[in-house]
Amino acid sequence: MDRFLVTGGAGFIGSAWVRQALADPSVRRLVVLDKLTYAGNLANLEPVAHDPRFRFVRGDIADEATVAALFREEQFDAVLNFAAESHVDRSLFDPAAFLRTNVEGVRVLLEASRAHGVKRFLQVSTDEVYGAVLSGQSRESDPLRPSSPYSAAKAGGDLLALAYHTTYGLDVVVTRGANTIGPYQFPEKATPLFITNALDNQPLPVYGDGRAVRDYLYVEDHCRALTVALRRGRAGEVYNIGNNLEIDTLTLATAILDLLGRPHSLIRLVSDRPGHDRRYSVESSKLRALGWQPQYGFAEMLALTVAWYRAHEAWWRPLRAGEFRAFYQALYGSRLGLSS
Ligand code: NAD
Ligand code: DAU
Repeated sequence: MDRFLVTGGAGFIGSAWVRQALADPSVRRLVVLDKLTYAGNLANLEPVAHDPRFRFVRGDIADEATVAALFREEQFDAVLNFAAESHVDRSLFDPAAFLRTNVEGVRVLLEASRAHGVKRFLQVSTDEVYGAVLSGQSRESDPLRPSSPYSAAKAGGDLLALAYHTTYGLDVVVTRGANTIGPYQFPEKATPLFITNALDNQPLPVYGDGRAVRDYLYVEDHCRALTVALRRGRAGEVYNIGNNLEIDTLTLATAILDLLGRPHSLIRLVSDRPGHDRRYSVESSKLRALGWQPQYGFAEMLALTVAWYRAHEAWWRPLRAGEFRAFYQALYGSRLGLSS
């Protein structure tokens, strides 16, 4: 496998995987297909833009004509599907966009992969498909109980990919990764939102009692896990990707403020996210048995992430203008008592 289609490769994790993959000289061809929604950003691919093995195509994975044309032009051994509407809070406003990309888009890619003899299809799914796990850890065989339109749509795409293996024999691997942080993450998710708000001395909106727990994973670790699943995973199998961390939102917010030397008084407890999952935790020994191990603990990944945002204001500042301001006002305006 040395010719890759990476969908959603201009986003946070997809672009990190592309940068990592192209550091490997055995990769012969890598095409990114990305719609460039508000979350897609060509600046994320700037480090590889001039690599002769790399090509960028702007297009929608749910658009059959676009996908068919690309599969006629290029030959792919493997497809990695990162493309998704990925923010839970946005899915509460506009579920339709999530169903179109996260379910229908997956179907279009699976059909094209089947028609063109793709050797492996990696569906990048999420630990959110298991729903809240109040104790213990989710295993790959556990039932899916998604809580939000985002995670329900991701569960649909995840199960559809597995069904294409069962029904049509397509070589499919599904990964279910934990909350990922690091450079180039759009500043709407908790970690980059809190960092950029803190840098601007703006309040950090913490939902509910601030005790919802997430398992944080550094983006480099997530990408290496995807490569292990891609190259060594078994067809038709699911692999959880987790770090065994239990970090609640107040701990995250406090750690960010401490790293930036800002006062804890910037923390605001605000009304909760509807359907907010209290805790995620995945058991990832199945992937670890294939040779993957996370390298980054919480303190190190957070320090690296905070340092990156501090040094890259030119990357994130424009993203907080424009459309983001309307989104911010709609989500946080009344919670934070902001004037419109
Ligand atoms: P992101 O929002 O940063 O990037 C998504 C990318 O997909 C963007 O570049 C966007 O332009 C593109 N895209 C959206 N709709 C598209 C469409 N219809 N056609 C083509 N491109 C489209 O997301 P991310 O955080 O990098 O997540 C990548 C994948 O990993 C997603 O599938 C997500 O569900 C999954 N995941 C994310 C996390 C996390 O913590 N961020 C954890 C586990 C799994
Ligand atoms: O677990 C994997 C998932 O992690 C991915 O599938 C999603 O794409 C990704 O967005 C992320 O989902 P979460 O909803 O867990 O991440 P988010 O950064 O939005 O929130 C993390 C925690 O912080 C969660 O408990 C909600 C809370 N939070 C979030 C925001 C944006 C707040 O308290 N305040 C906020 O403003």
